[in-house]
Amino acid sequence: MSHLKIEHIEKSYGERSVLKDVSFSVQEGEFVSLLGPSGSGKSTLFRIIGGMTAPLSGAVYLEGEDITGKRGSISYTPQSPSLMPWRTTLQNVLLGQEIVGKKDEEKARDMLERAGLKGYEQAYPHELSGGMKQRASFIRSILSPQSLILLDEPFSALDEFTRLDMQQWLLSIWSEYKRSILFVTHNIEEAIFLSDRIIVLSDRPATVVKEFNIPFDRPRREDLLLTEEFLHWKKLIYQEMRVLNE
Ligand SMILES: Nc1ncnc2c1ncn2[C@@H]1O[C@H](COP(=O)(O)OP(=O)(O)OP(=O)(O)O)[C@@H](O)[C@H]1O
Ligand SMILES: [Mg+2]
Repeated sequence: MSHLKIEHIEKSYGERSVLKDVSFSVQEGEFVSLLGPSGSGKSTLFRIIGGMTAPLSGAVYLEGEDITGKRGSISYTPQSPSLMPWRTTLQNVLLGQEIVGKKDEEKARDMLERAGLKGYEQAYPHELSGGMKQRASFIRSILSPQSLILLDEPFSALDEFTRLDMQQWLLSIWSEYKRSILFVTHNIEEAIFLSDRIIVLSDRPATVVKEFNIPFDRPRREDLLLTEEFLHWKKLIYQEMRVLNE
């Protein structure tokens, strides 16, 4: 049984059709990226999987259970970081654990330090930069207890090197925690470097046009980015995306 299964999801806003017959699945412990043009419907799909929005038709299953329109079964981090302005950074990252009554402050402090946020534990969101907010909300979702994590472009506000650091960090945490991750990005390199599998979505209305299994061994190191093999995958996926944008 797949961990997550999306079946025939359709969604429109008024006349505008956003998702058209979207179906795919994620296996236990798998890292899957959704790659698609801007405005194609990726965040909308995430909101549906996270139970924030109902689809017009179709269903979302987690471990075989129908969770369509239900919140809380999946750890969902929206695209723009949604830290609570009245809580400190530390209180914000502990939110997901607090809800289930299992706070591990030591681990939270350790993660904040690894994400370069040491010294900001007691700071409020308005005192953080955009990238810092992204990192804090990302830590919150990693610390949440759910077995599937949805990440919607968590690194888009970071410079190239911080981004690489965070990608490495995400991979080390993922291998340590063994969760399933569904990741949205429009960065091809990022998708290849991180994923077991990449699902390419078409322009709006989004539908699955192609899937790629990424064969690189793990753990993956930064120098992978400079290999011929990596470039080969980049070209392949780039060509696929280019056709979509024509
Ligand atoms: N609440 C809403 N009401 C009306 N239209 C919406 C709403 N949310 C999204 N849309 C429309 O749905 C389409 C897809 O938006 P969505 O945010 O899912 O795209 P995306 O693929 O995540 O884009 P990006 O890569 O830029 O984040 C857009 O045309 C957008 O205008
Ligand atoms: Mg989006």
